[in-house]
Amino acid sequence: MSATQSIHGMWSSRLAFILAATGSAVGLGNIWKFPYMAGDNGGGAFVLVYLLCVLLIGIPIMMAEILIGRRGRQSPINTMRSLAADERRHGLWVLLGWGGMVAGFLILSYYSVIAGWTLAYVFRALGGGFMGLDGESAGALFNALISDPERLLAWHTIFMVMTTIVVSRGVKSGLEQAVKVMMPALFLLLLALVGYALTTGEFQRGLEFLLVPDFSALTRGSVIQAMGQAFFTLSLGMGAIMMYGSYLPRSASILNSSLLIAGLDTLVSLLAGLAIFPIVFANGMEPGAGPGLVFMTLPIAFGQMPGGLLFGTLFFILLVFAAWTSAISLVEPAAAWLVENRGMNRVRAAAVVGTLAWLLGIVTIMSFSDWAFSFDFHGETKSNGLFDIFDILTANIMLPLGGLAMAVFASWFIGRSSTVDELQLGEGLLYRAWRFAARYLAPLGVLLIFMSGLGVI
Ligand code: PHE
Repeated sequence: MSATQSIHGMWSSRLAFILAATGSAVGLGNIWKFPYMAGDNGGGAFVLVYLLCVLLIGIPIMMAEILIGRRGRQSPINTMRSLAADERRHGLWVLLGWGGMVAGFLILSYYSVIAGWTLAYVFRALGGGFMGLDGESAGALFNALISDPERLLAWHTIFMVMTTIVVSRGVKSGLEQAVKVMMPALFLLLLALVGYALTTGEFQRGLEFLLVPDFSALTRGSVIQAMGQAFFTLSLGMGAIMMYGSYLPRSASILNSSLLIAGLDTLVSLLAGLAIFPIVFANGMEPGAGPGLVFMTLPIAFGQMPGGLLFGTLFFILLVFAAWTSAISLVEPAAAWLVENRGMNRVRAAAVVGTLAWLLGIVTIMSFSDWAFSFDFHGETKSNGLFDIFDILTANIMLPLGGLAMAVFASWFIGRSSTVDELQLGEGLLYRAWRFAARYLAPLGVLLIFMSGLGVI
């Protein structure tokens, strides 16, 4: 039955797993994507749907994903293959592993480009480039960056190399060390930014925008994007959390870990929103400015606050780290598979994955300039062509589908006694609540939202 160790190594403790999984979850999705998605979709109602999705769909699926990973102890592809065989299920379940690998590549390819923007902003902050910015000049500064493919390519390359290096160093020395200090530091700096937002005079308006639901702003498109955001920000549905779960010691509680990871991740997103929207309103900017929102708002704050040079530099450095620890988790499943099935060492495996995703990243780079085109997504104009398509395809379709399959596999296709054994909750209310959520609530929730997105209901 299930192995007690992974051949790739194990986390040194439950804390190490929590840190790594939180490192995977907390990233650009929280600080870059959440605010602009909320802004594009009218604020409060989107946030409410997102929170409901985290709670009712995300947490049960996260538990299912960790459970599967810990039972299989291999890369998602091989884990699915061997668990399906153990449980005498159809071999096609392996496709879940493959789908996750494809989603991971697609996400990594654009993730690294956006992480490149944050790298560029570290140096802008350091060079005093944020001094005296207003809404307009901050926008111009951002547009100058994204319309310059060579510069984007350089930063994208640097970020991908950074990511590959950490993955090649392995579970303990590479992944664990990176997250221990960065996560708490990022958190503190976000708090400081919320403190600044309190001084802008528009804090209340920002707070209301984020938390008071205006249901007239809620379209089919925003519901589907809120669900996609829940999956994306929790790193669910592609195998990253499954992979990390495969390094988790048997003794650790899957429920407590999931609650903690999801709670911290949600907190970071909300703090980012609280920091950003007051600045948006105080500077006469558009909440629906799109993917540039964070890069056009926070520099204004840093340009005005005392110590802004230091804090601005530090903030973007930490954002780079947050993106880094997420990108690592996007590489890990595919790299582990190459080690298991192609006999590569970690260094080579990481380099292969990184190179392929790097190449694909060029598509995203060009989407912000020469290859840009607009299209309509549920009444909302998306103007960055293939980047938006990659994003919609992965976050709104592939991750929810993957997560749905994981919930179904864990709760319908793995024997009940095995899941009882893995979750260690006994067979009482908590266990039954999980099983109900994984069997019915989460899959039906995803399906309903899909159907509404397709206009079927
Ligand atoms: N959760 C990460 C973020 O919010 C992105 C991610 C998605 C990482 C899927 C791994 C898997 O930035």
